[in-house]
Amino acid sequence: MTQSPHERLQHMRRESEMGGGPERIEQQHKKGKLTARERVAFLLDDGSFLESDRFVTHRCTDFGLDQQKFLGDGVVTGHGRIDGRPVFVFAQDFTVFGGSLSEAHAAKICKILDQAMKVGVPVIGLCDSGGARIQEGVVSLGGYADIFLRNTLASGVVPQISAILGPCAGGAVYSPALTDFVFMVEGTSYLHITGPDVVKAVTHEDVTSEQLGGSSVHMQKSGVAHFAARDDRECLTQIRELMSYLPLNNAEDPPVIPCEDDPLRRDAKLDSIVPADPQKPYDMKDVIKLVVDHGKFLEVQRDFARNMIVGFARLGGRSVGIIANQPAHLAGCLDIDASVKGGRFIRFCDAFNIPILTFEDVPGFLPGTHQEYGGIIRHGAKLLYAYCEATVPKLTVITRKAYGGAYDVMASKHIRADLNLAWPGAEIAVMGAEGAAKIIFRREIQSASDPKAEEARKIAEYREKFAHPYHAASRGYIDDVIEPSETRSRLIAALELLRTKRDRNPPRKHGNIPL
Ligand code: HXC
Repeated sequence: MTQSPHERLQHMRRESEMGGGPERIEQQHKKGKLTARERVAFLLDDGSFLESDRFVTHRCTDFGLDQQKFLGDGVVTGHGRIDGRPVFVFAQDFTVFGGSLSEAHAAKICKILDQAMKVGVPVIGLCDSGGARIQEGVVSLGGYADIFLRNTLASGVVPQISAILGPCAGGAVYSPALTDFVFMVEGTSYLHITGPDVVKAVTHEDVTSEQLGGSSVHMQKSGVAHFAARDDRECLTQIRELMSYLPLNNAEDPPVIPCEDDPLRRDAKLDSIVPADPQKPYDMKDVIKLVVDHGKFLEVQRDFARNMIVGFARLGGRSVGIIANQPAHLAGCLDIDASVKGGRFIRFCDAFNIPILTFEDVPGFLPGTHQEYGGIIRHGAKLLYAYCEATVPKLTVITRKAYGGAYDVMASKHIRADLNLAWPGAEIAVMGAEGAAKIIFRREIQSASDPKAEEARKIAEYREKFAHPYHAASRGYIDDVIEPSETRSRLIAALELLRTKRDRNPPRKHGNIPL
């Protein structure tokens, strides 16, 4: 019996929704993973998903593939909404050829990347794939390159987010790496260039996929991942939260939400949060949480380079990107990883019109051969470059130390910060009083009848002269010295004023950031 056009459509639709079939779907669930369609449904507002290309199939005839065709060819693509705002989505379906990337699969992803750029809407990729479709050979590699090109052209135009929800190996890692934020799931996802077998053959190391490229590796050691979740659902919820801080594209401002937290709120705890002893640490995250709306801070790269904190929050309902030194880790020193982490985050915020708020307590760059041989000069320059080129509103609060080159780098007035505030205990100097006094008064100290007493006197002398914010304020390098509890209201007033800020860099093809 022939089907009516309506019946045929319904049949085809049902077939396209079956993925690789019930058995493979069951295997996916047994691994603790959702299917591609379940992920899309969970990520987007209820009923908002509109799928495209559900009838696409691969064109490969080798290795018997012409006998195995699945509607959609292992990737679900389309668009929907998150909190009412549009997003494009692709979700690789591991139940179809292990989510591997064929020519047709790649073309579907490219189509939504092209559309997203045209209409200025973010793209979220949910990756769960065995990599290049092995049966297709170079055609599949070409498909990857087509995606890489579009990821690169879309960079800085629309936010791009990748969630790694299964395997991701070989060159396939480079599409996520080109995007703005990478999410991973503990235990079920991994990213690596070469798998354990190749590693064993080449370096004789015995490692599992998890040890080589699991979420803890990329959260703690490599800095490749920005967020980790315990399961798929938590990961997708985190993506929705991140989206709430971001504009749809580079021509828009980030969303402003009504603020129920009093803009004039003063938290007295701030006035005593910094210990009197400059060598004593405190947790800069406590400072951030006491200042921002409702104490809500979405930290990015939480476990990587913990001496530098980066993340999103709101002030008076407006999104801000926060970069802060963490005195509770490595005394808040700048090192290679912290510089790269901060630099990349600043460039994201600048590309997407998100004001940059810096909390500064930094004794300087971390000394040592490890850092010098690793190229702290080159990497530190990335952070400096990123701050210098950023034209979004830049607000800086020095909570305690602003020493040496780090004073310049961390959004100083000299590199176009719009508002530079210092707390009363701030020390703005070339270095700490002890180190400085020992160098510039070396001869006096050595020749004194009581060198120890003389050293203490000279340290006190230097501290009196420089270990405060008023020298910098007398030059106008600091706009004001404020009570810590005034911080919130001052920052909100500045953001309001700077809404209409206009600043431009000279015309050029692009700058040459020290990569
Ligand atoms: C075609 C693939 C595939 C692939 C998996 N499958 N990977 N089909 N091309 N790349 C198929 C399997 O044949 C199997 O089909 C189904 O997907 C599920 O795979 P399993 O191996 O049963 O699953 P699992 O045990 O969970 O292992 C998952 C895996 C493994 C670790 C991803 O499948 C694997 O190692 N695949 C190959 C990975 C790889 O080397 N890819 C190429 C990387 S190089 P059936 O029909 O049996 O269910 C690359 C270059 C990109 O990607 C370069 C870009 C520049």
